[in-house]
Amino acid sequence: MKPALKKDPPTGAGGGGAGALGFSFLDIKSFIALLVLLTLVFALWQFHPYQPLLSASSRTSTPCPLLTHSAAAASSYSAAAANTTAAADTTAAPAIGSPRDPNKRELRPYGTAAALFVQMGAYRGGPRTFAVVGLASKPAHVFGTPYFKCEWQPNPSSPAARPVRTKAYKMLPDWGYGRVYTVVVVNCTFPSNPNADNAGGRLLVHAYYSAASRRHERFVALEEAPGAYDESRFRPPFPYDYLYCGSSLYGNLSAPRIREWLAYHAHFFGPRSHFVLHDAGGISPEVRAVLDPWVRAGRVTVQDIRAQAEYDGYYYNQFLVVNDCLHRYRHAANWTFFFDVDEYIYLPDGRTLQEVLRQLQEYTQFTIEQNPMSSKLCVEDPTEQYSRRDRKYAIQARNAYSTGVHMSQNVYGKTTHKTESLIRYYHYHNSINVMGEPCRKFVPKPANGSKVIFEGTPYVYDDNMKRLAGEIKHFEKETIGAPST
Ligand SMILES: *[C@@H]1O[C@H](CO)[C@@H](O)[C@H](O)[C@H]1NC(C)=O
Ligand SMILES: *[C@@H]1O[C@H](CO)[C@@H](O)[C@H](O)[C@H]1NC(C)=O
Ligand SMILES: *[C@@H]1O[C@H](CO)[C@@H](O)[C@H](O)[C@H]1NC(C)=O
Ligand SMILES: *[C@@H]1O[C@H](CO)[C@@H](O)[C@H](O)[C@H]1NC(C)=O
Ligand SMILES: *[C@@H]1O[C@H](CO)[C@@H](O)[C@H](O)[C@H]1NC(C)=O
Repeated sequence: MKPALKKDPPTGAGGGGAGALGFSFLDIKSFIALLVLLTLVFALWQFHPYQPLLSASSRTSTPCPLLTHSAAAASSYSAAAANTTAAADTTAAPAIGSPRDPNKRELRPYGTAAALFVQMGAYRGGPRTFAVVGLASKPAHVFGTPYFKCEWQPNPSSPAARPVRTKAYKMLPDWGYGRVYTVVVVNCTFPSNPNADNAGGRLLVHAYYSAASRRHERFVALEEAPGAYDESRFRPPFPYDYLYCGSSLYGNLSAPRIREWLAYHAHFFGPRSHFVLHDAGGISPEVRAVLDPWVRAGRVTVQDIRAQAEYDGYYYNQFLVVNDCLHRYRHAANWTFFFDVDEYIYLPDGRTLQEVLRQLQEYTQFTIEQNPMSSKLCVEDPTEQYSRRDRKYAIQARNAYSTGVHMSQNVYGKTTHKTESLIRYYHYHNSINVMGEPCRKFVPKPANGSKVIFEGTPYVYDDNMKRLAGEIKHFEKETIGAPST
C-alpha cells in the first residue's frame, strides 16, 4: 500500500472523505426534485411513463413494469425518495441525460468487502461501563473516521422507561498489525448505571460510517434480563486468583507438549486458577483428549473460535481473542496472564507466586522476561544466552480497557518491567508443533556453567524445569487421574 502515490479523490477528501457525502446529500435533493419534474413532463407528454428512475436504480435485471398512470409513478417516486439516504445510489444519472454522454463512466459496486463492524462479544465492565469487542474494516479506520454511540433501552416494565445515550470511545489495540480487518474495542460508559432498577434492558450500539454523515448501523450488543444485574460481581473476592487467557491455537499442536504445559501451569497457579484456551483449528482429537479431563475438572474452558477464519485479521485474530477474553473475564480473577503454550512461567528464587504478586500489587500490569530455550538441543534442556528479548505479561484486568499480545497500552495505573528477578518464563520456541520427540541433537551434560555451541549459538545447561518433572507428574495424577497418553 502506497497511498502517497495515489491521487486525491476529486472531492478533495483530505479529511478521510469528509466532504464527499455532505455534497452528495445536497446534490441528491436537487437531483430528486429534477427527476420528479422531468418524469412528470415525460408522463404527460407520452402517456406512457418510464419505470420510476430511482427504484430502477437498484439495477436489477428484472424487466420494468410499465406504469399505467402518472399518479402511481409520482407516488412511488416520493416513497423512493423517502427511502433514499446519504448512501443514495446515483447510478441512475446517465439514464436521464439524453442523449447519454458516452464519456461519462459509471462505477457499479457489487457486494461488500469488509464489514463496518463484526461483533465477537459485549460485556458489562462495571456498574456503568460496557465493552463491545469486534473487528472492523481496517481501511475504514485508517483512512476514515468511523465512530460509535451507545444507547441503553430499558425494558418497558422499567420505571425508568427512557433510553439513555452516551458517547463511546474506540480503541484499536492491534493498530498496524491488522489486515483486511482490525480489532476494535468500543467502550461505552454511562453517567450512572443505566439498569439501576434491575428491570433489565439492552445495550444498542450505533456504528457510524464516518464523521461526515449520519449514515450508521444500529445493533443490539447485549441484553440484560430482569434481575440479572449483580453489582457484587465487580468487587473482590473474585472467583479465581489467576486466569489464563490463551491466544488462538492453530496448526498441528503436539498433544504431549500441551499435556505437560497444562499440568505444569495448573500446578503452578494452584486450585484457584482457570485456563481459557481458544481453538482456531489447533485442537486436534489428540489434543482434545488431553484437555478433556481438565475441562471436566472445571480447570479449563475451551472456546471454539473457528468462525474467525472468515475474517482476515492478524494471525488467526489473536488480538481479537485476547481482548474478548480480557473483557469476558474482567472481574473473574485478581490477575490475568497472557502468554503462549510453549512458554513456562517460573519463579527464580523459590518464592511463592502469592509472595511475588503481593510485591507487584501496586502495579496494574507487569511484563515477564523470557529465558529463551533451545527446542532441539538436549541432554537435557540448555538455556540459550544471546537472543532477542521477548516479553509476556500479567494484568489486573479490571483496570485494563484493551490489551495487546505483549502488553496492554490501555490501562489505568502503573506498569513495571523490572521483574526479571521475581518472575520469568522459559520459552521453547518451535517445540509445540513438533510431533513426537523434539530433540534433534544430544550432547553430554556440560560441566558447571560451561557453554555448548550449537548452530552458532552458545548454550548453558539449565535443569530448573526438569527438576520439577516428578512433582508435576504426581500432581497431574492426583488431579485428573491416570493419564491416557
Ligand atoms: C423502502 O424501504 C422499505 C424497507 O427497506 C421497503 O420495504 C420498501 O419497499 C421501500 N420502498 C420503496 C418505494 O422503495
Ligand atoms: C486477590 O484479591 C483479594 C482482594 O483484593 C485478596 O484478598 C486476595 O488475597 C488476592 N489473592 C491473591 C492470590 O493475590
Ligand atoms: C499437520 O500434520 C499432518 C500430518 O501429520 C500434515 O499432513 C499437515 O500438513 C500438517 N498441517 C500443518 C498445518 O502443519
Ligand atoms: C471504559 O473506560 C473508562 C475510562 O475512560 C474506564 O473507567 C472503564 O473501566 C472502561 N470500561 C471498560 C469495560 O473497559
Ligand atoms: C558446580 O558449582 C557449584 C557451585 O556453583 C558447586 O556446588 C558444585 O559442586 C559444582 N559441581 C561440579 C561438578 O563442579
